[in-house]
Amino acid sequence: MLRPFLEETAAIVESEIDRLLGDPAQQAAPRLAEAMRYAALGGGKRLRAALVRAVAQALARGAADPPWETTAAAVELLHAYSLVHDDLPAMDDAQLRRGRPACHRAFDEATAILAGDALQAAAFGWIAGDPYLSADARVSLLAGLAEAAGLAGMCGGQMLDLEGERQPPDLAGLERMEQLKTGAMIAFAAEAGAIVADASPTERQRVLAWARHLGLAFQITDDLLDVEGDGTLTGKDAGLDAARGKTTFVTLIGVDAARARLSELARSAEAEVRQLAGDTSLLDALFHHVVTRDR
Ligand code: IPE
Ligand code: IPE
Ligand code: MG
Ligand code: MG
Ligand code: MG
Repeated sequence: MLRPFLEETAAIVESEIDRLLGDPAQQAAPRLAEAMRYAALGGGKRLRAALVRAVAQALARGAADPPWETTAAAVELLHAYSLVHDDLPAMDDAQLRRGRPACHRAFDEATAILAGDALQAAAFGWIAGDPYLSADARVSLLAGLAEAAGLAGMCGGQMLDLEGERQPPDLAGLERMEQLKTGAMIAFAAEAGAIVADASPTERQRVLAWARHLGLAFQITDDLLDVEGDGTLTGKDAGLDAARGKTTFVTLIGVDAARARLSELARSAEAEVRQLAGDTSLLDALFHHVVTRDR
């Protein structure tokens, strides 16, 4: 059930990003447009897009399919920007992303910085201009994305991650860092699905509580994959966290305790999702997929 859903979502969001980014030859700075396409297209599991769609469909309760596509494309675009900057020499100094040279290696550092900047701006622009959403929905999405991407979300978490290379955090500090750098955008993807489906404030809060567990579980799995994963599947340099002296769930509490924390998060997530009306089997399947993934 989940596999065709993920494959179809990835194909739809890929063509939406392609359509919205457009032809580089027609843009003001074609090389920058090429770098944006390189970073945003042709790879990625599109899990955040799947989350937008799965929540939108669960909360729409069989009514007409809510218009999730542009919002999902925007979330993936913002995520792609965060990866371009995360890989820069000044940050993780990664060589590989999605099985290909990182953007700054395929182009150059300055172009990668600008591509990230422009991807971020475009993500906001796409939501603002989505003709299928009400003005209220668009403003809610823009405010939510701003918070999830910025100081109180992904950027704040990335800062704590870098500071952690010098001053290792304790477990509470690590959870907070991971919630911010990864959890905030994942939680926003789920909340965005609720906004697109015009869900009630109570439903929105419940989905958000569920997605916070998912976001932390996602990053713990990412930390485990850095140690145990196969680089040919993840498409990233294996063992980079240890090489950079990062504190992760694995370095701080070890593989077994990290897995135990994942089971705990799965139980908490299940308790949240049970309170939602409607068919939530896809949400359960997504959670299971996230914590058992190999890429
Ligand atoms: C990687 O995210 C970065 C983290 C937030 C851990 P994903 O594992 O979702 O990367 P893609 O989009 O599939 O490449
Ligand atoms: C980065 O976390 C999360 C982002 C906000 C991009 P990581 O640095 O662990 O992500 P990977 O492992 O490089 O994908
Ligand atoms: Mg990083
Ligand atoms: Mg990284
Ligand atoms: Mg990682």
